[in-house]
Amino acid sequence: MCGIIGYIGKNNTIDVLLNGLYALEYRGYDSSGIAINVDNKISLIRSVGRVSKLEEKIKSLNIKDGVYGIAHTRWATNGETNINNAHPHKVGRVTIVHNGIIENANILKEKLVKEGYHFNSDTDSEVVAALLDYKLRDDNILDSIELLKKELVGSYALGIIIDESDELYALRKDSPLLIGIGDSGNFIASDITAIIKYTSDYILLDSGDIAVLKANSYEIYNGNKKINKEVLKSTSSNIDNDKNGYNHHMLKEIMDEPQVISNLLDRYNNSRNWEEVDLSKYKSIDIVACGSAMYAGLVGQVLLEEYANIKTSVYAASEYRYKKKIYNDKTLVILISQSGETADTIAAMREVKKLGIDTLAIVNNSNSTIAREVDRKILTEAGVEVAVATTKAYILQVCVLSLISYVTSYKKGLLKDGVSYSDFYKLPSLIDLVIKNTDKYREVVSMLSKSESCFFIGRGIDYAICMEGSLKLKEISYIHSEAYQAGELKHGTISLIEKGIPVIAIITDKTLKEKTLSNLREVEARGAESIVITTEELEDNDKHLKIVIKSANRFLDSMLAVCVLQLLAYYVALDRGCDIDKPRNLAKSVTVE
Ligand code: G6P
Repeated sequence: MCGIIGYIGKNNTIDVLLNGLYALEYRGYDSSGIAINVDNKISLIRSVGRVSKLEEKIKSLNIKDGVYGIAHTRWATNGETNINNAHPHKVGRVTIVHNGIIENANILKEKLVKEGYHFNSDTDSEVVAALLDYKLRDDNILDSIELLKKELVGSYALGIIIDESDELYALRKDSPLLIGIGDSGNFIASDITAIIKYTSDYILLDSGDIAVLKANSYEIYNGNKKINKEVLKSTSSNIDNDKNGYNHHMLKEIMDEPQVISNLLDRYNNSRNWEEVDLSKYKSIDIVACGSAMYAGLVGQVLLEEYANIKTSVYAASEYRYKKKIYNDKTLVILISQSGETADTIAAMREVKKLGIDTLAIVNNSNSTIAREVDRKILTEAGVEVAVATTKAYILQVCVLSLISYVTSYKKGLLKDGVSYSDFYKLPSLIDLVIKNTDKYREVVSMLSKSESCFFIGRGIDYAICMEGSLKLKEISYIHSEAYQAGELKHGTISLIEKGIPVIAIITDKTLKEKTLSNLREVEARGAESIVITTEELEDNDKHLKIVIKSANRFLDSMLAVCVLQLLAYYVALDRGCDIDKPRNLAKSVTVE
């Protein structure tokens, strides 16, 4: 999603802004731009495509460095990807960068056109610049920004420059924004990673806050009153642009999985910490999330129902926030989010909190909105994930849900099959085995990478894994892919099966093995190329391509199978020459509805 960086200080402004933009690249974007104040004139440079193209353009123009500036990576929402729609936008005396969506932009635009304003872009953001410029005709800067707040409907994080002013301004409502406090200057950023290279001291702006930055000082106002806010210290590390010898962040992040899982298991090795993951007091759970986090929730649903005997439902946050909630005082809502900044998940959390329902977040970013506002949280601590397609953060979400199911089942005296916590420790080395055995994938990869469409089938927990495997493949390789409950395929979708279409069956659940195999035979009979991903003990004798993994137990096998699917997606995308870490149209963190 869009990213913001602003800087005022003694360092080289262009360098700081470009470094910030590079650090924000992982969020996903399609154009970028900077505005800097050089000798009291604003220079605006924008470019479609990668930040490296913007950097080339800046160098070729030989622009002098400025005393302050703002910069942006844009992920198109209003208006297609082109130079005019790229940020910053300058109208009259006002230059802005904007994250979020202005819902009443069209109405405002009509009024501003009547006042003589012309617009060069299709964006809602340019309307914000024009409106502030209009307000500045009659008022001073702070009063004008206050008036702007009153007229804008929607969400916004804004970095603002005003001609002839020696200050930077920041303003937010709902979209995240912070200011960084450094020894050699001050910053505006939508995400701490943009400025962590320069400072770890920051202040989170709350909705309605206006920050005024100079090189050596800052002030924050809300409703025309100056306010004091706590300076926080970030524990985030510099975006790890070092791929550790791997060609892509995605592969490096898959390779990190054994270690980050080990770290998580160590945290709960002492059963005194189990209180955090014991949900035995709840009778029903709603899991609410988006994308892969929602698919992690599907795995959790199977485990929580089967082992902890708690009725569990899973919802897309974009639906849940608007639906009628059926709950009582024994209901828990679990929000799952890597970034902790996904707009729909935040909105769902706030709705639920208003109703007084207990909330628990499984979240990776400890500084995020969800981590700050939720009642209780479990941090996944995957570290920063750079590749847009989530891997290590997803697997940790599943691992946390497995732990919750295990501990809750233990506390309720429901544990069967002699599973013990020490079994969880088999997981890192078993994932390591999966990672090291990728030679076996070659045939499957070459079959998939030639296809334009494929299907994943499974039942129960295996269906939940199929959803993630299918998403991973389509998002980075652009192969059309669908995941189906194995028994459901024949109710319509089987009409799409024809000779040569790959169908991948996941079989880790012993009780459903034969059922899924018979569904696979149905598609084989219609010419599908079948592939089975299964455990050693469930391997069948049919003649299809197989990837066989060493099993741990039912709390853990889903994670092993998912790791196989992540690697398959990676190698297929590699084979097809795709931009693996930054797939087209996708954003790492979706901060609009
Ligand atoms: C985006 C990302 C997905 C992610 C989803 C939810 O679509 O590309 O990888 O699963 O958002 O993000 P969250 O940060 O809430 O887990």
